[in-house]
Amino acid sequence: MQKPPSAARTALLAILLCAVGLLLPMAVAAQEDPLKWLPPGSRIETTLAEYPVRAIISEQRGGTPGYLARLGELVFRSPLTLGRDAARRGISCEACHTNGAANTSFTLPGASDQPGNVDLTHLAFHFREDDGSFNPVNIPSLRGVRWTAPYGHDGRFPTLRAFSHNVITREFGGPPLDDWLMDALVAWQMEFGFTDALPTDPTGAAYQRHCRSCHGDARQLPPRRVHDIGTGQPVEAPVLRGLAETAPYLHDGSAATVADAVSAHAGLDLTAAELSETVADATRLGAMARRHDPETLDGDVARLNGFIDLIHQQLLDEAGARADQVGDMVAMEIGRIYRRFDPAAVTARDLIRNWARALARATQVGLDGDHPAARDLLADLKAAIATDLPRLRAQGARSLYAAAGPSSTGGDKQ
Ligand code: HEC
Ligand code: HEC
Repeated sequence: MQKPPSAARTALLAILLCAVGLLLPMAVAAQEDPLKWLPPGSRIETTLAEYPVRAIISEQRGGTPGYLARLGELVFRSPLTLGRDAARRGISCEACHTNGAANTSFTLPGASDQPGNVDLTHLAFHFREDDGSFNPVNIPSLRGVRWTAPYGHDGRFPTLRAFSHNVITREFGGPPLDDWLMDALVAWQMEFGFTDALPTDPTGAAYQRHCRSCHGDARQLPPRRVHDIGTGQPVEAPVLRGLAETAPYLHDGSAATVADAVSAHAGLDLTAAELSETVADATRLGAMARRHDPETLDGDVARLNGFIDLIHQQLLDEAGARADQVGDMVAMEIGRIYRRFDPAAVTARDLIRNWARALARATQVGLDGDHPAARDLLADLKAAIATDLPRLRAQGARSLYAAAGPSSTGGDKQ
């Protein structure tokens, strides 16, 4: 039943863990930063303060995501998902589609022409090959993505599975995901909801006449047909819901404001009054009450504990090899928290390094087939995390968490 981890994967993991200084405590600070694999000026992570709010459908309905979706959250956040080149650079689905929204500050010099835009085929060139042309597109929000098939700005992909497979294997040149991980990745994307309820007052007559057939309205999502509005490129009419979160607009990010985006449509033939009325309607449909939900130490640790439970589950199922794969991804999450502490926060970094060691030990014991012992080790790890947390909090001033401020948590259910 158990299969040893492939040599290639083990080698990659060794590189990554060294890179975050987890397995080799003596690793110099310069080796701890994935940004060193990226061109200067790169910005691949949203700052903790600017994290977009979470909008998870099952949570909005008062429940919690199921096992598969929670595993998918880990896959979505893991740089291992996109293959070796992306992993070294710390790039995951989450880097671009932060909390299911769009990372409007994502910048990769050479592949981006402005923040929030990236040429995925050019990006692959960074890593290996180029399609010859430079045409960056705006990173879309994945809010409500389960309702917006087909996918890609030109609607080439009928399902989330097909699109995700393409991103991983073609755009990033990574190996195809195992089926069970792809199932999880899709399940997580199916959980992305919209943040706010739509306005209840209807859109005006001009909007109904000039816009609704392509963009839908408060009651109806658009049919997502492809149109060329005058940019020379056929593009799916986007969902306007949640627009406020995704500037700049249009597939190439060429419109800074909603008014610019509407004015960019050729042949709409609007009077000045209709233009301002429809811009106001589109803005209202796209409005969002609360944009940011700062990441906190306690939030990160709670999420980490949830991910550790996923390994636990794999061990209950006696799936040792899978527990090992999930363990690799959880190790990357520990690395994420580790990097959020300043190298000067020595105590915190030492404690977190111990978590990584304890995790590696637990998954190795699981891989060796002693599942009960592995489960005990994971329970010990969770106990250690609980014990260490106050000491981490005490060093919070020397971390990125300090700048993020207190988390604003509130309803926002729809
Ligand atoms: C480097 C940034 C980047 C990364 C990393 C990334 N994406 Fe995207 N994603 C984009 C861009 C840009 C587009 C728009 C591409 C297009 O329209 O053809 C996109 C489009 C999508 C869409 C289609 C949305 C729609 O409504 O049409 C889905 C789904 C998606 N990405 C999922 C993922 C998943 C899953 C991953 C990880 C396996 C991922 N993305 C990784 C930048 C990224
Ligand atoms: C023929 C179909 C069609 C009609 C009619 C139409 N649009 Fe669009 N709209 C599109 C398409 C297609 C895009 C995407 C174009 C692109 O990205 O290059 C778009 C983009 C937009 C965007 C930018 C959205 C984003 O997320 O980037 C806004 C805002 C918008 N339209 C508002 C309107 C308003 C308001 C009206 C009515 C006055 C209108 N549209 C009429 C097809 C249409």
